[in-house]
Parts: sequence; C-alpha cells; structure tokens
Amino acid sequence: MSVSHPRVLAAQALSGIVHDGVSLRAAFASFSTKLSDARDRALLSALLHAGARWWLRFAVALEGLLERPLHEREAQVHALLVLGLVQLEILHLPEYAAVAATVDAARDLRRPAFAGLVNALLRRWLRERDARNAALDTDIATRTAHPRWLIASISADWPSDADAILAADNEQAPLWLRVNRRRVTRAELAARFAAENIAAQAPAALPQALVLEQSLDVTRLPGYAEGLFSVQDGAAQFAAGLIDARAGMRVLDACAAPGGKAAHILETADVDLLALDRDRQRLPRMHENFARLGLRAEARVGDASDPSAWWDGRRFERILLDAPCSATGIIRRQPDVKLHRRASDIATLAGTQDRLLESLWPLLAPGGRLVYATCAVLAAENSACIGAFLARHADAAATPVTIGWRAAGAGVQNLPGEGGMDGFFYAIVEKRA
Ligand SMILES: C[S@@+](CC[C@H](N)C(=O)[O-])C[C@H]1O[C@@H](n2cnc3c(N)ncnc32)[C@H](O)[C@@H]1O
Repeated sequence: MSVSHPRVLAAQALSGIVHDGVSLRAAFASFSTKLSDARDRALLSALLHAGARWWLRFAVALEGLLERPLHEREAQVHALLVLGLVQLEILHLPEYAAVAATVDAARDLRRPAFAGLVNALLRRWLRERDARNAALDTDIATRTAHPRWLIASISADWPSDADAILAADNEQAPLWLRVNRRRVTRAELAARFAAENIAAQAPAALPQALVLEQSLDVTRLPGYAEGLFSVQDGAAQFAAGLIDARAGMRVLDACAAPGGKAAHILETADVDLLALDRDRQRLPRMHENFARLGLRAEARVGDASDPSAWWDGRRFERILLDAPCSATGIIRRQPDVKLHRRASDIATLAGTQDRLLESLWPLLAPGGRLVYATCAVLAAENSACIGAFLARHADAAATPVTIGWRAAGAGVQNLPGEGGMDGFFYAIVEKRA
C-alpha cells in the first residue's frame, strides 16, 4: 500500500467531517478499518484530529494561496491541501515527505490534474510560511482556529480566562484511566503497567485515577480485557464522589450511555442503579462496559424528559443528570465541536437542560440529591441553568461542591486543561425533606 494511503483516507474523512457533519469519532471508526497497519491508523488519527482542530486556520491560509477558489465538488482535494499544511505546521513532518506524499495522494484520490497544484501550493507555503503565519496570527479566529461566535461566548463568560481556554482547546489531552477498585488497587495496576514500561501518574485528588502521557490503544494495555480499568477523564471522575451513593440506595443515571459515570458509581457502592439513555444505539456499549467491569445495573432506553414512559413510580434517592450539552469543555478531545456547533445550539441545549431538570425533579425523594453535570464551559448551560432552576423550586437547595474548582454560581467549573482535565461543570441540588 502506498504511503499516501492514510492521507487519501484522511482527506475523504475530513471532507465528510467538515462538509457533511460527520463526527470525527464516526469518521475515524469507519475509515480506520481500511488500514491494517497500526502506524497508518495512528497517522490517520493524528491527521484527523489536527485537521479538525486547525481547519479554521489553514482553510483560510489556503484561500490566500489559491488564485481562484476550488470548485465545491473538489472538497476532498481542498481537505487534502489543508492536511498538507497541517502536516508541515502542526505535525512537523519532514517537508519533503509531507509534500511528496500529499502530491501522490492527489493522484490516488483520482485527481491527477491537481497534483501539480498541490505541489506548487505547498512549496509556495514553505517559501512564505513566516509571513503567512504572522498574518494568520493577527486575527484571533485564525490564530486560535475557533469560530467567532464561540470566541465571543467564551470571552463573555470567562473574560480573564478566554485566552487560556482557547489555547487549551488546541492541546492534545492526556489519557486518563479510572481503576476498577472492585478488581484491583491503583498501586497494583500501576505496577503492572510499570512492568511493561508504561509510566503512569497517580494524582492525589482522585484516588482511582491514573494518567498516561502517551496516547495508546487502551485495549492493548494490561488488564483491559479483565476489566481492571476504564478510560475516563479526571473531571468526569468526580461525579461518583459527588453523588455520594450508599449501599442499597436507588440511583438514576438519567443520561447514562456509554455508562462511564454509572460504572464508576457501581464500582463505588452496591446500589440499585437504573442507567437510562434515549439513544438505543448507545445501549450495547453500555452493556459491554458493565459486563467487562463485572458490574450489574438495569440499562434501558428511555427519554428522561418523559418519565411517564419508563418510570415505575418509586422515587430515587440519587439522580445523576449528565446532561446533553455543547461539549465546549472537551474540544481538545473532540475538535470537530468547533466545526459542528452553531451559536443557536446553545439556547436550544439550555432549553433541553431545563426540561430535563424539571422532568426529573419529581422523581427525587425528599432528602435526596441530584447532581447536575455538563462537559460545557458556557454559563447558559451551567450556572445560569442551575440558578434559574433553584429560583423556580422552593424545595431545592444547592449544596456546596468542595472539589477545589472555581465557583460558578451555585456550582463549580473546571476550565479545559486545568489540572490536566477537561472543562466540566458540577452542581449538587438537594430536595428539602
Ligand atoms: C454526556 S452523554 C452521557 C455520558 C455518560 N453519562 C457517561 O459518563 O458515560 C449524554 C447522553 O445523554 C443522552 N440523552 C440525550 N437526551 C436524552 C434524554 N432526553 N433522555 C435520556 N438520555 C438522553 C445521549 O444519548 C447521551 O448518551
């Protein structure tokens, strides 16, 4: 197979991500099956992540290099050219290899007529890169490769942290694992990793967490098949502690798939847990995760905003609402969020979050606790949403969240990259007895 092959697939996949709204995760899942070599799959992953992360910079750079815009039917050639720039500027691949392989990829895309253009544009970029990079850096949108509406929203909500958030969004996230304490201790698992020369940090604030600096295929790590650990960002690992579920409690995880936080709660206490999710296609992953980790819960399909369709009338002592959100806290892991989210999505999501809170509140037992979580950084989905909920419900009281994050209204916020973790919001609301 030619060295251009991962680049051909990357151009096809990136074009689908940018123009057809395909998620990066889905694009990688389907295109990586066409590559048998692990190094080629790693290159495809690197190209897609960097391509999506930096699209809004290098698509503009390309406009400046092209005398005439490419016809829109040449979306794959366009993506290939952006990927050429990304290989030179972000992945720092050797210039000769990056240019030659990208030219070959144009031929392998059955666009041989563009091979000369690809060669000429990438070589021109190399001659003029300093001045062109400097020009791109004068505009915050091309400097940070974020859409303007999102820069404005982040700047409005976090005026003194906006630059740090935008920069952190473009970093690669470390690999966080959560140790399954029912099967192994953190020290034992770290020792098994060390025996295979895999270095892992054990952060003090999270007793089940291990952090790996290198990105790896986790299914090949020792203990994966035995269910000794799961992949879960550190920020998400606070949820189980905040829920504070005790043995025998009835717990609802209202938006549970693929079951990361539900599994953590089950690892922590012997509870009667209902793991609900609206998306039928996400249920098998949840079943697989519970089975691999040796955990038991009732997992079922249901719309949390319509309990009459699935609730048996018995109240829950704990409810986790890990709400559908803009995912603006996890852009470093899912850079396609920058390409797929629209400004108008935020009000729609805030409406959904309000509805979910309203629908679930009657299901909480007096004296019970609801934990509200999002992987978003925007106030409309977080502090404003919870503030408005508390104002509407005299029987709801906010409980302080004491995990060392910054206060955000009645809850707390971690900003992307802080503590090496994702951007996340938590609030605890208790129902007066
Ligand atoms: C942030 S993800 C949940 C992640 C999960 N808690 C975990 O830790 O692995 C949000 C989930 O909410 C689900 N969802 C969205 N709207 C829902 C609704 N109305 N009822 C139930 N689930 C919903 C989505 O299908 C998605 O799986």
